[in-house]
Amino acid sequence: MSLADKRLILVVGKGGVGRSTVAAAIAARTARAGKRTLLYETSANDRFGNYFDRPPCGTEISQLGHNLFGVNATPQSALAEYGMMILRWKSVYEMVFENRVTKAFLRAIPGLDDYALLGKAWFHTTEDKRGKPVWDTIVFDMPASGHASSMLRVPAVILETVPEGPLTRDAREIQALLSDRARTAAVLVTLAEEMPTNEAIELEQKLTALGIVPQQLIVNQVYPDHFPHHAPVNKVLDAIVGETASPLAELAAHGTLARDRRALNARYLDELRARAKTPLFELPLLFTQKLGSTHIHELGDRLHGLV
Ligand SMILES: Nc1ncnc2c1ncn2[C@@H]1O[C@H](COP(=O)(O)OP(=O)(O)OP(=O)(O)O)[C@@H](O)[C@H]1O
Ligand SMILES: [Mg+2]
Repeated sequence: MSLADKRLILVVGKGGVGRSTVAAAIAARTARAGKRTLLYETSANDRFGNYFDRPPCGTEISQLGHNLFGVNATPQSALAEYGMMILRWKSVYEMVFENRVTKAFLRAIPGLDDYALLGKAWFHTTEDKRGKPVWDTIVFDMPASGHASSMLRVPAVILETVPEGPLTRDAREIQALLSDRARTAAVLVTLAEEMPTNEAIELEQKLTALGIVPQQLIVNQVYPDHFPHHAPVNKVLDAIVGETASPLAELAAHGTLARDRRALNARYLDELRARAKTPLFELPLLFTQKLGSTHIHELGDRLHGLV
């Protein structure tokens, strides 16, 4: 099942493993496949402007490319949109939501920020214009693991604790969307290293318990195999290890480092294959000072078959 057929793609994983990069690569590909795509982030520092050679994404939707748009929502902006949606008139909204007491009250509700951010993603899946969906695909670059799983739990918590009403009606719809494998796919991003591997397995279990079965595990930044086991170059490296004369010593040191790094990745790729239930897909580490649009499209092309 191609990710391009999903309405909502949740990109989750440990902090710093490449969620934003993978989300951008997926979105680049769905957009190219003709899907009107919204790249949705809720981050203090926008990455997507840079990745698509555009100004940084803000709280208003902006265009990042052909068929591709981005937005960087804050809890305040998402809550204000929600408020406007239910209250309809700006003056009424201001009277209620901008009121000091209401503001203090809203801030005190646990999970409300997360609910507003998740609710906005859901809302975009429901938007339509003349009977056609406004967005074919929403790629949600989610917060890091722990925060993402608590955010994804909020609808269930609301259904368990809040009396039946408008809030539970939306929460039920959000919950139904999240656990509908035909419409929603979770993509788990990790690195083939010890801590990210353990965290990915833990997150896979947490998501599954929430009824969100991850569709794909993307192992990002896999180091290239410069010294394949049976290749002659491997024997050459063995032969010069222990050399003291420069520049051979330096070459040996670099070679050994590259080989060890690859061996570490290979070990944790094996471990992920053994422990994870989700199908695994590798993305290479790209050697560059700074990732830009060409790299994002290159990573997107590598996702051929998945998206
Ligand atoms: N495949 C790759 N090859 C090379 N560099 C990469 C790759 N994937 C990610 N990076 C780089 O690694 C860094 C972290 O990536 P990214 O910002 O996507 O991670 P993140 O999980 O979204 O982080 P955060 O938790 O801060 O939101 C960035 O500098 C990014 O450009
Ligand atoms: Mg990020």
